[in-house]
Amino acid sequence: MNLLHHLCCPLCGGSFTRNNNVLSCPSGHHFDMAKEGYVNLLPPGKGKNARTGDEKDMIRARRDFLALGLYSPISDGIAGLLGKYLSDFPEILLCDSGCGEGYHTLRITESLMHQVPGKVLSVGFDASKYAAACAMKASARAGFTGDAGIGSDGKGLAYFIPANIFSLPLSDHCASAVISMFAPVAVQENIRVLRSGGVLVTASSGVDHLREMRNLLYTDVHISDGAVPEYEGFVLAEEKKVYYTIHLPDKTAVADLFTMTPFYYKTNDAGRERLYAADSLTVTVDTDLRVYRLK
Ligand SMILES: C[S@@+](CC[C@H](N)C(=O)[O-])C[C@H]1O[C@@H](n2cnc3c(N)ncnc32)[C@H](O)[C@@H]1O
Ligand SMILES: [Zn+2]
Repeated sequence: MNLLHHLCCPLCGGSFTRNNNVLSCPSGHHFDMAKEGYVNLLPPGKGKNARTGDEKDMIRARRDFLALGLYSPISDGIAGLLGKYLSDFPEILLCDSGCGEGYHTLRITESLMHQVPGKVLSVGFDASKYAAACAMKASARAGFTGDAGIGSDGKGLAYFIPANIFSLPLSDHCASAVISMFAPVAVQENIRVLRSGGVLVTASSGVDHLREMRNLLYTDVHISDGAVPEYEGFVLAEEKKVYYTIHLPDKTAVADLFTMTPFYYKTNDAGRERLYAADSLTVTVDTDLRVYRLK
């Protein structure tokens, strides 16, 4: 399985050939590959309508917070569900849509390698090139980039590509699974890239998620009603709640978790002051994992 065969040009959808470190489509669009297979497939000039991706401080905060391991039960949950639903595939192409810094992608890739007999090739897409670059470095450290970047072989590989998830540079019906963790769900694109028998697996916040932090930030707390999202073209196959308590041991951990959430943009000065005054915090993690099958 070679990722190059499944990538396509974000401008015209044409397939790629690789010449040294340049990917080219038949229409003459070229994309330079950096070392370790990193290639930016955000279409130049077309990014106006796409989200530009999270800011650098948010990315750093998320990387540092996730490194504490406090969210590892969430990727463990997703990996367990994928192992169950993908056991019939001889080899797996996993697409992480809105992968951030790849923390969950890499843990899931590692877990799947031990659960399934065939090869596992993961590709994470994110509108933030900083996040994708950070993920690519982590993948290289974990030994998931092979020797020669995109196109190399191995039992488990993981590549990260800056791209718009609403216009994925992936060929039709190549992915065994799409995961969407705390990211927008690009329903039509997911249908297009999934193979027959493939699944979409989502992770989203449940009604109690970070309740204690919200109570500190806001006097009037509004939270989602907990309704199960329905996606046209998919049928919900399984739900699993991941619910536990974490202890944020110091001000840095409290601030990092705050910075990586949407609360960061929605909190007034008084709320921020209350949060930054906390020396530690115990918070509930309430995450809903859902498996959707193609209809
Ligand atoms: C809350 S973060 C979650 C990251 C990662 N899945 C995780 O759980 O750690 C959401 C991510 O979705 C990305 N994103 C949002 N809209 C996007 C789009 N249209 N195309 C690509 N990525 C997008 C953001 O850049 C951000 O990294
Ligand atoms: Zn092209």
